[in-house]
Amino acid sequence: MKLWQGRLGGDVDERLNRLNQSIGFDARMVRQDILGSVAHAKMLGKIGVLTADECDAIVGGLNGILADLDGGALSIDMSAEDIHTFVEAELTARIGQPGKKLHTARSRNDQVALDLRMYLADEIAALSGRAKSAVAALIDIAEQHLETVMPGYTHLQRAQPVTLAHHLMAYAQMLLRDADRLADCRRRTMVSPLGSGALAGTGYPLDRQFVADEVGFRSVSENSLDAVADRDFVLELLSDLSILLSHLSRFAEEICLWCSWEFRFMALSDRFSTGSSIMPQKKNPDLAELIRGKAGRVYGALVALLTAVKGLPLSYNKDLQEDKEAVFDALDTANLCLDVLPPMLETAKFFPGRMREAAAAGFLNATDLADYLVGKGVPFRDAYQVSGALVRLCVEKGATLETLPLSEYQKLHPAFDEGVYAFIDLGNCVNRRNVYGGPAPEAVRVQIENARAKLSD
Ligand code: ARG
Repeated sequence: MKLWQGRLGGDVDERLNRLNQSIGFDARMVRQDILGSVAHAKMLGKIGVLTADECDAIVGGLNGILADLDGGALSIDMSAEDIHTFVEAELTARIGQPGKKLHTARSRNDQVALDLRMYLADEIAALSGRAKSAVAALIDIAEQHLETVMPGYTHLQRAQPVTLAHHLMAYAQMLLRDADRLADCRRRTMVSPLGSGALAGTGYPLDRQFVADEVGFRSVSENSLDAVADRDFVLELLSDLSILLSHLSRFAEEICLWCSWEFRFMALSDRFSTGSSIMPQKKNPDLAELIRGKAGRVYGALVALLTAVKGLPLSYNKDLQEDKEAVFDALDTANLCLDVLPPMLETAKFFPGRMREAAAAGFLNATDLADYLVGKGVPFRDAYQVSGALVRLCVEKGATLETLPLSEYQKLHPAFDEGVYAFIDLGNCVNRRNVYGGPAPEAVRVQIENARAKLSD
């Protein structure tokens, strides 16, 4: 017998249940469903719709259910239609008549919207904590590599020298913005829809702000139709998660590259690597590959829900039930990835020698060479030409700018003197880039300090 079988007669078809049931996934909102109901019941007591005794019985019953679930004395009946139905039926089984009054002035439409908002508010807080832990791990490693020179790339071609610290901090910045976006999303999520009823509010003189305060929300929704139909807080979270996963996937791709024998900039710990069933020599960065790949799954959840809400007429439609599997899966995925990233990085080895070798071989100081001539009064465009010609000469001779004799330099421009070698030294090239936000150790120290301050915000 369903909760809603007033008008409909007989048993529903079993195939209806299989498509209709949501308990399999909305059971994870049980705590929020109970706490939301506690708030609702207290409010009904406050405005006199429930007597004090009824209110006490309901609140006591609900708290008892929660305690029994936590203690393991009660488990969720997975044959119930959804979590709201389960809690209400369990309550009535426990306390009888007053239990049947809980749903006064409420619909599952505003109830589910409240539950999901409460659930996501908690999850978002936990997730941004994880993102911040990843930032902390990046900062710790960056601090050890302020002077580790490595090639910076554009087009995956060696471009200009940077440091490993600066490179890692680039990802720290992305994750800090992700955490900031999540905080923003959380603020918009913590608005109470309760009191919107099925769609058209209710005739009871509800104290909606009381409910919002009880569940720790800041405000109440302004339009009952919007409140039961709106899922943009879910879409916003899915967008934030998609961006987060895009960042993780870019980093993961670099980890894969850096672990390759071609780069050998780093090696993952054996604890965070896998092998091959046939090739005995293999050590594979499967976890990094999975993080890279999981982005697709999270984008999929975003697109699935965007598609589900597209063109939906107001107000509540059952299509909206699709929000939960999408967002739960995306959250689980993001949590998995963020959980593995810090220990994977903390146990990895970085190879500064290899990075320096790569930096030395790619003419990364060619821009600095041009700047050297600019310092001697040569216009940048001319200096650029001379520097390019010198690189071509080095390529022909199999030399580097550091090893090319001064006489060769002077053949191309008379302004060169011995000082050129110090000027184009890779360490000096990095140290000179001391602009705010640049890779010089001093500048990266400032960057780290600022990031730390954001972490403790
Ligand atoms: N399981 C439903 C959902 O997730 C709860 C709301 C049901 N409302 C209704 N009118 N059938 O959306």
